[in-house]
Parts: sequence; structure tokens; C-alpha cells
Amino acid sequence: MPGLAERLLYRVAKRWIAGYQLEDVVKAAHDANGRKLHVILNRLGEHTPDRGLIEEYTQEYLRLLDAINDQGVDGTISVKPSQLGLAVDPLLFKSNLEKILDRAEQRKRFVWLDMENSPYTEATLRAYTELLADHPGLGVCLQANLKRTQKDLQNLLTNGGKIRLVKGAYPEDLSIAYKKRSIIDSNYKRLMEMLFKAGDNFAIATHDTKLIEEAQRLSKENNKSFDFAMLKGIRDDLKEKLTSQGYQVTEYIPYGPEWYNYSKRRMRERKRNILLLVRSITG
Ligand code: FDA
Repeated sequence: MPGLAERLLYRVAKRWIAGYQLEDVVKAAHDANGRKLHVILNRLGEHTPDRGLIEEYTQEYLRLLDAINDQGVDGTISVKPSQLGLAVDPLLFKSNLEKILDRAEQRKRFVWLDMENSPYTEATLRAYTELLADHPGLGVCLQANLKRTQKDLQNLLTNGGKIRLVKGAYPEDLSIAYKKRSIIDSNYKRLMEMLFKAGDNFAIATHDTKLIEEAQRLSKENNKSFDFAMLKGIRDDLKEKLTSQGYQVTEYIPYGPEWYNYSKRRMRERKRNILLLVRSITG
């Protein structure tokens, strides 16, 4: 039985996550599909050195792929490299990812790689590049707050990489990352221009109205296949507006008992979310 603090926080976190179980995320996925949204499903959990747990996460993704196939969900999955073994051994990670990719290919589903904090960037991109030739249905997330990303994007675009562009959720050191919001935003814009010029089948993953408007403008000048991607529980109004305008919108829906770290990140992004927490405590 979770303690009082956990139960109160869960009351707030619930808007961002589907629940604890695989069945919860399938239900949330159907709900999102009913709102004309594609979905990206993610089993929470990261940075695990425990081989037993890594195997459980891998098996869970196989079950998730089966479930979305059998239950007619319009969606894909996204995995965190460090939950599949990257924190232990890059080869373990690659072999688990290959198992997932094989199943995803049988089920004709796309797989995304989440991008975690900077100690994992190089190894994630290396594995991505190595696997891409044999697995074209694999995409990777890139973070606009990292100084290296422009170069990474250039490289990936020449290899036909499929990119989900985000601002970046992890606190990083000034030596490798932009810290000022305005600089991160202008870098995002620059990277987005590169995607519309030289990429295809990419995702503009942000809730930032200005950047979304810029993407809409760029999409009129460049005939590219892309979607807008947003997190569960954030800017539902904007998701609805964009789908009604004919844009493809995808909702990223996480689930699992490891919801605490994920929710902390969402709290950090917006002070008003802390107020929600206080209100849920004070009733
Ligand atoms: P920004 O934070 O500037 O927010 C813009 C506006 O969106 C705000 O003004 C507010 O209206 C709304 N908003 C944003 N966050 C909110 C919140 N928590 N609650 C309420 N409103 C909020 N990161 C990463 O490092 N690796 C990854 O793999 C991914 N994957 C990923 C997938 C998808 C589909 C999305 C949308 C995001 C990610 N992220 C991510 C997270 C990303 O890096 C970033 O932390 C968040 O998207 C918040 O940044 P915005 O681009 O929305 O801009």
C-alpha cells in the first residue's frame, strides 16, 4: 500500500501517465485514438543496472507490441536505452533492442528511442546508426538543448535517420548544453528548419505554440511527412485544434509504477504544476 505522500502525488501525476499496468496504457491509447490521435506508448523505468529487471522491461515491451496489435491500437512504442541495458553494457542494450525490433517488424510497428541524459547520448546514437540500415522502422529523439545536436542531426539526416525533436528534459552542464530558454528555442527552430529541408517522417515534439506555428509555416513551404507529438495531459486544447486543422498529432503516453521521476520532470517544466500538487494536498 503506497504511503500518503505517494498517493497525493499520484493524484497529480495521473494526468500525465496512464496508470500502473499494461492494460491501463492500452485503455488510454484507445481513448487517445478516439480523439484522432496516434499514440507512442512508453513503459516507465530508466537507469537500471539490474539484469533481471532489464529482461522484464524487454519482455514487457514484447507484450505491449502484441497487445497493441491484438487490440487494434493505432500506435507505436518508445523505449529508454538505459532500461534495456545501456547502463550495464551497450551490447546487452543492442541485443534487447533487436528483439523488440524483430517483434515490432512482425507487428508492422515503428519503434522510437527516447533520448536520456548526456552520458547516454553517444552510445544511443551509435546503436541507432548501427541498427538503422537493417531496421528502417526505428527513430531516435534529439534534444535542442545540447550543443552537439546540430552536428548529430546533420549526420543522421545523411543516413536517412528518423528524428523526434524535443527541447530536452534533463538538467545538463553549461559546457555541453544551452541553458537559456530563448537560445534553446532558437536552436530548436534551426533544427526544425533542417528537418523540413532535408528530413522526412519526423516528429515535432513540443507544446510550444510559437514553434508549432513556425512548423506549420515550414510545412506549407516543404511537402514533408511529419507529425506533432505532445505528452499525455499537456495542451489537450492544442492537440484538438491541430487535428481539426488536418495535422497528424501523436500523444506520448507513459505508464508503470516508476511514475515518480517522470512526474518530477513535468513539475519542473511548469511552476503551475506545483500549485496543482499543493491544491491536491490541501483538498
Ligand atoms: P516548454 O517547456 O517551453 O513549454 C511550452 C509550453 O507548453 C508551456 O508554456 C506550457 O504551456 C506547455 N507545457 C510544457 N510543459 C508543460 C507541463 N509539464 N505541464 C503543463 N504545461 C506544459 N525529452 C527528452 O529529453 N528525451 C525524450 O526522449 C523526450 N521525449 C519526448 C517526447 C514527446 C512526444 C514530447 C512532447 C516531449 C518529450 N521530451 C523528451 C520532453 C521535452 O524535452 C520537454 O521537456 C517537454 O516537451 C517540455 O518542453 P516544450 O517543448 O513543451 O516547451
